[in-house]
Amino acid sequence: MLREQQAEPGAFRPAVVGNWKMNGTRAALRELDEIDRAARSASNVDVVIALPFTLLDAGSRRMTAVQIASQDVHVEPGGAHTGCISAPMASDAGAVFTLVGHSETRARGDTSATVAHKLRAATKAGMTPILCVGADLNGQAPYEAFRRLRDEIAPVAETNGQMWVAYEPESAIGADSAADSDQIATVHARLREHLGPSARLLYGGSVNADNIAQILSLPNVDGVLVGRASMQASTFAPMITFADQSARRA
Ligand code: PGA
Repeated sequence: MLREQQAEPGAFRPAVVGNWKMNGTRAALRELDEIDRAARSASNVDVVIALPFTLLDAGSRRMTAVQIASQDVHVEPGGAHTGCISAPMASDAGAVFTLVGHSETRARGDTSATVAHKLRAATKAGMTPILCVGADLNGQAPYEAFRRLRDEIAPVAETNGQMWVAYEPESAIGADSAADSDQIATVHARLREHLGPSARLLYGGSVNADNIAQILSLPNVDGVLVGRASMQASTFAPMITFADQSARRA
């Protein structure tokens, strides 16, 4: 069940989303328990972790305050697609969210059309998709980057409005530092313009405990999507606690 809560009008309720990518065996569930403990005392934050398929069921059974996301879903509900997982299957295993269109899945062949089908499939299965978009102002003419951004968010029309969007400029993923604040603020302003006041807009790409304060202070940034720093409680729990405090301060 989706536990996303409505923030009071005018209040800031950040989202902190982890993405474990192709990492984590059952031994890592202990790490997840610690993260859940931090999330239990952070009632002003939505905490979500995108687990590998193999941990969705066990993870969702153990978590009380962390909500579970799949990292991807197939466009079809079932069938002859060896090695894939459908939205109804991920949902049945306890995932209430799913990432869609992460640049690492786009690099393996997801086109805009595939992403649109995946958003529809996730919505149909009752999941909340987190659409990842990667248009990068770094090394690209702004005109090109904004055209790509418009293309990337077009599939939002496939949802019933219940979706989050994560802006993850490709050059900032797995990098030494996050994108610079100007780029984040500029692109998030565009996203807000296109998607409206109620859209949940996250930033992702080398977010960590040292830069989360700066990132969450930017206009139109409602949360973060965290890769490497989400895999250990020692680095992820402080980010949850910080986001909780920043919600209270807002
Ligand atoms: P990173 O990954 O935080 O390790 O840069 C982010 C992501 O790809 O979701």
